[in-house]
Amino acid sequence: MPPKVNEGNCSLWIFQNLIGYIILIDLCRIQGAVITHNKDVELGGKATLRCTPSKLYETIQVTWLKQINGSLVNIAVYHNVSGPKVFRPEMQFNFTVLGLNETAITFWNASIQDNGCYQCIFNTFPSGPVTGKPCLSVYAHLDTFIHYKTSETHTSATCFATSFPRPQISWHTPGGKMNETQVTNPNGTVTVMSGIFVNTSRSQAEQELICRVKHRGKEVDLKLALPGRGHSHQNHAVLILLSIMTMVLPIN
Ligand SMILES: *[C@@H]1O[C@H](CO)[C@@H](O)[C@H](O)[C@H]1NC(C)=O
Ligand SMILES: *[C@@H]1O[C@H](CO)[C@@H](O)[C@H](O)[C@H]1NC(C)=O
Ligand SMILES: *[C@@H]1O[C@H](CO)[C@@H](O)[C@H](O)[C@H]1NC(C)=O
Ligand SMILES: *[C@@H]1O[C@H](CO)[C@@H](O)[C@H](O)[C@H]1NC(C)=O
Repeated sequence: MPPKVNEGNCSLWIFQNLIGYIILIDLCRIQGAVITHNKDVELGGKATLRCTPSKLYETIQVTWLKQINGSLVNIAVYHNVSGPKVFRPEMQFNFTVLGLNETAITFWNASIQDNGCYQCIFNTFPSGPVTGKPCLSVYAHLDTFIHYKTSETHTSATCFATSFPRPQISWHTPGGKMNETQVTNPNGTVTVMSGIFVNTSRSQAEQELICRVKHRGKEVDLKLALPGRGHSHQNHAVLILLSIMTMVLPIN
């Protein structure tokens, strides 16, 4: 289906194929009669949100708003007579395209607070307001590390992951007690701490603890190899022999 330029509404088409995969095709890039592009930016980086009406209007004023906690906040305005005005200087952005037939604002030091969706409204005559809705996705690089303590009977490990959006931690290990906490850092990133307590007194063989961190569609595995209790060479030899025997026996 061709993308539509329809005023006001943002269309979301859902196609479902026979195997059951759902593909969402987001046609929000063209909203209302304003062409916009969503942007990804690393924390502290530079990003420009631009709005271009798909046809020429007679515009009196361009207004930029941001959705903050569910309400729209006026952040900047450009008027054909009084010029530009930025209401939120702490947001560290400027107009980089000053005009009424196109508008752009540039964040030169993107913060987590800048993450979210914006609206650019062209107050046109006689059509009325025409709106574009570009979104800015701010992300941070991922920091991970694992800290552990091990004794005769148990191992306790804590996996740390710091980033934004909030990273997800899961453990891939046989058993163990887990607990998770998180803190929000002053720069807006989130540190997730996931602890695991594994009883190793029963285990004979070497065990592997895997802390899997998921962030922005990527996975990072942090592995911890725990030696088994009876890890003499003889024990290993017996274990290997047993496993070969079980493989051979059914054939006889
Ligand atoms: C956009 O506006 C500027 C001045 O406001 C004008 O010089 C320019 O020709 C306009 N662009 C188009 C495509 O009409
Ligand atoms: C960017 O923002 C951060 C946090 O608000 C601040 O600590 C830093 O000094 C700023 N950097 C620049 C170049 O303005
Ligand atoms: C944000 O803060 C966390 C925790 O203090 C730190 O590990 C991380 O490097 C910081 N990120 C940036 C981009 O400043
Ligand atoms: C660990 O396993 C041993 C042996 O089965 C058991 O005696 C002990 O209570 C277990 N400890 C914990 C914390 O589960």
